[in-house]
Amino acid sequence: MDTKVDRQAILEAIRKAPLLSPSASRLLQITAAREHEMAEVIAVVRTDAHLTARVLKTVNSAAFGLLYEITSIDRAVTYLGERMVVGIAIGDCAAQLFQKQLDGYEGEKGSLWRHDLLTAIAAREVAGRCRTPLNPDLAFTAGLLHDIGKALISDFLKGTPGGLLRELEEALLNDYLEGERAALGIDHPEAGFELALSWQLPASLQAAIRHHHAPQEAPPELRPLAYAVHLGDIVAMMSGCGTGADSLRYHLDGGYTHYFDLSQEGLYEIILAADEEFRKITHSMAETKEKPV
Ligand SMILES: [Fe+2]
Ligand SMILES: [Fe+2]
Repeated sequence: MDTKVDRQAILEAIRKAPLLSPSASRLLQITAAREHEMAEVIAVVRTDAHLTARVLKTVNSAAFGLLYEITSIDRAVTYLGERMVVGIAIGDCAAQLFQKQLDGYEGEKGSLWRHDLLTAIAAREVAGRCRTPLNPDLAFTAGLLHDIGKALISDFLKGTPGGLLRELEEALLNDYLEGERAALGIDHPEAGFELALSWQLPASLQAAIRHHHAPQEAPPELRPLAYAVHLGDIVAMMSGCGTGADSLRYHLDGGYTHYFDLSQEGLYEIILAADEEFRKITHSMAETKEKPV
């Protein structure tokens, strides 16, 4: 297989990938900043009629069980929290990518979105146990985007998972990433990073996407975030919510104990808490009968 051709074709596909809307891009910039106000998030939502409608529809879905309908955008955003609003904005414009059937991973349609969402929720829970201040909402957003590279390389991997798995079992490959690189000349974290560059995402999100399987390689100040996503990803896969053939075919970097106060029991609590929130959010999505929130 000529991996050089694949790599070029993949980079070309990334250049043609759907763009983020200006409001989604603005929301990512605002919420990645350490200091920001909810008022700034509300101001962006207000300027986007489509996003406003989606936010109101979500907050008023039966899953949230409100007694009265919320019609004010201020209250809706405050009630949902910024991570949900960011999720709605990204999900809307990148739905094509998130909903892509991951044939190259033998994953079902919707598996990427479910895996990303559970990773995001778990990464947020993990962030709450960081020894240094780490913005939990930023960890959520990073979790949501961490595997976006899979949507970009999946078609190029088609037909290879069986072969990759065989090679993994025969210990010819170290992990799934090595298989991706051997087959295509690029792995999914790097493909995701290229997209993050073309979307001009904040540096923190770029690094979290690029290093989510090797968090120790992230710049020191962004390592806690990369580790939060790394652990969130493992939690999602351990909960049986992976993206297909590659599930649990990656290494856990034990260096997380340096950044997080997390015992085995703590990890188990995170699995349970994440599962509960995941059910609530997916339930609200099913009720709004829309594409991903
Ligand atoms: Fe990944
Ligand atoms: Fe993942």
